Amino acid sequence: MSFYISGTGSSLPKKKVTNDDLSKILDTSDEWITSRTGISERRVLSSETLLDIAAEAGRNAMENAGTSPADIDMILCATLSGDFVTPSMSCLLKDRLGLNAKYVYDVNMACSGFVFALEMASVYFDAGKVNRVLVVCAEAISRLLDWNDRSSAILFGDGAGAVVLEKGDGLKDLVVNTKADSAVLHISGVESNSPFSEGYAKVDKRVVMDGQGVFIFAVSAITDGLSTMIEKNGLTPDDISMYLLHQANTRIINSARKRFGQPEEKFPHNIEKYGNTSSASIPILLDEVNRSGKLKKNDKIILGAFGAGLSTGFCLIEWQK
Ligand code: UT7
Repeated sequence: MSFYISGTGSSLPKKKVTNDDLSKILDTSDEWITSRTGISERRVLSSETLLDIAAEAGRNAMENAGTSPADIDMILCATLSGDFVTPSMSCLLKDRLGLNAKYVYDVNMACSGFVFALEMASVYFDAGKVNRVLVVCAEAISRLLDWNDRSSAILFGDGAGAVVLEKGDGLKDLVVNTKADSAVLHISGVESNSPFSEGYAKVDKRVVMDGQGVFIFAVSAITDGLSTMIEKNGLTPDDISMYLLHQANTRIINSARKRFGQPEEKFPHNIEKYGNTSSASIPILLDEVNRSGKLKKNDKIILGAFGAGLSTGFCLIEWQK
C-alpha cells in the first residue's frame, strides 16, 4: 500500500518570452527554435520569486485534492534553483503554505526530480510514517542560463507543478537510475571566496550542455525505460492510456511515440508554451491533462524523466481520482 495522486496544481510566471524576443538578443530565429525543439515561447520569472509560484502550485494541488494544509505530513520540493541555497525551498514552502508537515526535504535531481521525489515519498508511505504528502517541483532555470549561449538559452523556461499524494494503491511501479557524467550537462557551483581555496575553478558559464550528447542519451534512455516498465508489468504499449514525458524537445517525445506506434494524443506536450521547465515539466503537464478531464479512473499512465546526473526516472501510475 503506497500512494495515489489525489490532486494536481501548477503555476507559471506571467512574463512570456517568445522566440522572436530571443532572436533580438541572440543569433537565432523562430524557425530554427521551432523546428529543432518544438518551443514557441517560455515563461520567465520577472517580478515573482520562485517561492511565489511554488506556493501557488502547491495551493492549487491541495485545493484540487480537497485537502487542507493541516493534513499534509510531508513536503518534498524538487528544485535545483531555489531562491536561497539555504533555507531549503521545502522549508520556505512549509512556512508560506502553513503546513504542519513533520518531514521536509528538497530533492536536487535536475529534470528527473519529480520521479525521484515520488520514490522518496513511496518509502515514507510504505514505512507508515505519512498519510498525505505534498510534492512541489519548482524551477527558475532562467537564473542559471548563460544568456549569450544560443544553444541552451532557447531551451529552458521557469515554472512550478505540484501533486498531493494520499495513502492508496495508485503507484504500480517506479524505477530511478543515475550514472555520474557531468561532461554533457552541468551547472557549476559558485566560485569560492575562501582565502584557503587553491583553485575552485572560476565559473564563466552557467548551464553547460553538449546538446547532441544529451539528445542521444535521452532518446535511448526514454525508449529503454518505457519498454522495460511496460514489459516488466506484463503490459503492451496499447495498455498505457497516457505517456507523460519530460518536456525537453518534441523530437525526443516523437521518437518515443513512433517507436511504440502510439497516436499523438497519448503523448501530450506543452513544451511549445513553456520550454523545458526541468523537474516541473511533468507535474505541470499532469495538471493540464488532469484539469482538462482527459484522465479516467483506472487509466494507466507512465511518467518518464531524464536529465542531468545523468539521471532517469520512470513511474507507472493507475489513476484513482
Ligand atoms: O532536460 C535536459 C536538458 N537538455 C536537453 O534536453 C537537450 C537535448 N538536445 C537538444 O534538444 C538538441 O541537441 C538542441 C536543440 C540543443 C540542438 O539541436 P541540434 O539539432 O542537436 O543542433 P546542433 O547542436 O547539432 O547544432 C546545429 C547547428 C550548429 O551550427 P553549425 O555548427 O552546424 O554551423 C549550431 O551552432 O545549429 C546551430 N545552433 C543554432 N542556430 C540557431 C545551435 N543553437 C542555435 C540556435 N539558433 N538557437
